[in-house]
Amino acid sequence: MSSFNQWDIVSGVGVTALGVAAARALETHRSGALVTDPYASAFVEAADAPVPLPSHPRDLDSQAWKGDTVWMSMATYVAVRSRFFDDFFARATADGIGQAVLLAAGLDTRAFRLDWPAGCRLFEVDQPRVLEFKDTVLGEQQAQARCDRRAVAVDLRDDWAAALHDAGFDTTRPTAWLAEGLLPYLPADAENNLFATIHRLSAPGSRIAVEHVDTQSLGMFDEEEMTQAGQQMGVDISTLLHNEDKEHPERVLTGLGWTARSDTAQQTARRYGRELDGTMGRNGGKLEYITASR
Ligand SMILES: C[S@@+](CC[C@H](N)C(=O)[O-])C[C@H]1O[C@@H](n2cnc3c(N)ncnc32)[C@H](O)[C@@H]1O
Repeated sequence: MSSFNQWDIVSGVGVTALGVAAARALETHRSGALVTDPYASAFVEAADAPVPLPSHPRDLDSQAWKGDTVWMSMATYVAVRSRFFDDFFARATADGIGQAVLLAAGLDTRAFRLDWPAGCRLFEVDQPRVLEFKDTVLGEQQAQARCDRRAVAVDLRDDWAAALHDAGFDTTRPTAWLAEGLLPYLPADAENNLFATIHRLSAPGSRIAVEHVDTQSLGMFDEEEMTQAGQQMGVDISTLLHNEDKEHPERVLTGLGWTARSDTAQQTARRYGRELDGTMGRNGGKLEYITASR
């Protein structure tokens, strides 16, 4: 049993996974969607969230959300981010990588919605109760994974490498790693340990993709916007963030000998024919997607 605090899908940082699923549900029903997630609405509808969350754009016409623009801004941001990382996995698997790890997988359904090569093994790491909720809903939906999907219930501040090994991770196979919507919620020592462990477990040819939010400019989300975003999801986000000094992931990975590059969210959105708006639009140059290979 982990000594770290536990949360479920409707408490603590678990709620943020539900918020991201709501954003993906909104995007899924939009014309010209950048991502289509057939299970996102089901997650939102199955959870007893602390505040109501939309699972379809028509929900935003109801009295509860009249005049709200934040949800569609979030949907656009999450769509751009999801698509960027979908494309990362498409390239990695096209180049022969047959093992993937979703760190803090939350309600990510890539195992079910992307094309994976035969024999591909995909690990989803997150807290036990988050994964339990996810598996219950996916079971009800009779969802079939399109790869060898393995849930790894462990805290990423704990010895997650051992849990990954126990689940069948193979250190001799090149791996594609993803940390999406994770780093701001990790303390600095856990983040340092995360990169060191990834490096240690990565065979040559491995790749990684990371969403980076500059913790120094987390103040970029002014207090009112932060409170508003929290109210949207029913959680006080400022209590979840670790905005102490952290080294930039591109520098960390370069320091470990990986070849890394950074794309801002704003550049990425425009490449996909979208424009970030609201808080995300004002700060889209400071939200980055780092990709690296070993
Ligand atoms: C914003 S959600 C992102 C989920 C998913 N990556 C996505 O983009 O849909 C954050 C996730 O991080 C997980 N998380 C945060 N800290 C964690 C930790 N220390 N150990 C395991 N999971 C953690 C939460 O449980 C939650 O599922």
